[in-house]
Amino acid sequence: MEELKFDGTERLAVDYVEGILQPTPTCDTWDQIWNFQARPDDLLISTYPKAGTTWTQEIVDLIQNEGDIDRSQRAPTHKRFPFIEWKIPGLESGLEQANAMPSPRFLKTHLPIHLLPPSFLEKNCKIIYVARNPKDSMVSYYHFQRMNKGLPAPGTWEEYFESFLAGNVCWGSWYDHVKGWWDAKDQHRILYLFYEDMKRNPKHEIQKLAEFIGKSLDDKVLDKIVHYSSFDVMKKNPMANYTSVPAECMNHSISPFMRKGAVGDWKSHFTVAQNERFDADHKKRMADTTLTSHFRFL
Ligand code: A3P
Repeated sequence: MEELKFDGTERLAVDYVEGILQPTPTCDTWDQIWNFQARPDDLLISTYPKAGTTWTQEIVDLIQNEGDIDRSQRAPTHKRFPFIEWKIPGLESGLEQANAMPSPRFLKTHLPIHLLPPSFLEKNCKIIYVARNPKDSMVSYYHFQRMNKGLPAPGTWEEYFESFLAGNVCWGSWYDHVKGWWDAKDQHRILYLFYEDMKRNPKHEIQKLAEFIGKSLDDKVLDKIVHYSSFDVMKKNPMANYTSVPAECMNHSISPFMRKGAVGDWKSHFTVAQNERFDADHKKRMADTTLTSHFRFL
């Protein structure tokens, strides 16, 4: 696999790491990823895919740079925040990027908590976790897999609906992911946020993030960050909208990375039958967590 150069003509194959589906280059280098050495001042952003990772990354960067958009536009998101488990043959891996980066580092992962390299918790790193309701996550992930050759083709919407419910997608089950991180949040330095809260009151959530990061920002700077991290502004920002990634890998004409940025788009995808099936399954799978009340499917 190593010697293959990813030219985007074919999609990456997938395999399993401890039962979790991952692109094969990640599986092949799993030992190195697991042994990644975090530093105490690393700040990690962790999410299930499509929960608003890029949005949170942009906010965190703007907070760190006190709203200075020129500083935040120094490089595309994926260069500013190494994605620790990501590896595409022929390109610098997330690990290589992270290891070469001076401190303090911002890092990104989609790993479920049980696959998180242990040194993050051993070094007591600050971690920001963002969860998004599973219906919108599913819709967003479906469109992302259509446009991103680094992940498997999603199949039809009907097929994808089944794969997602079965947890048979990269990074595994949405349920195991959000519940695992939720259970860990009180024993570690984890700030657990919700996409829907960020949409409802971005300034309030940005303020929470700033406090967690240890930055005191005045109202004017907070307003600036709300503006620069809004969906419409980020959609036009080439350093935040993933248009810098070669089109052979991400094809925005199939579906733009900055797609809708809305709560409730699932309503234009789910059939009535799918919705009933989803709700029944959701109720069962959320019966053992206090997280339930956060997802109301507006
Ligand atoms: P949609 O596909 O529903 O539009 P991630 O960064 O974790 O891959 O998540 C991508 C999702 O977050 C996409 O959702 C994208 O449009 C949305 N998003 C990105 N920036 C956003 C912003 N500033 N405000 C709201 N949603 C945003």
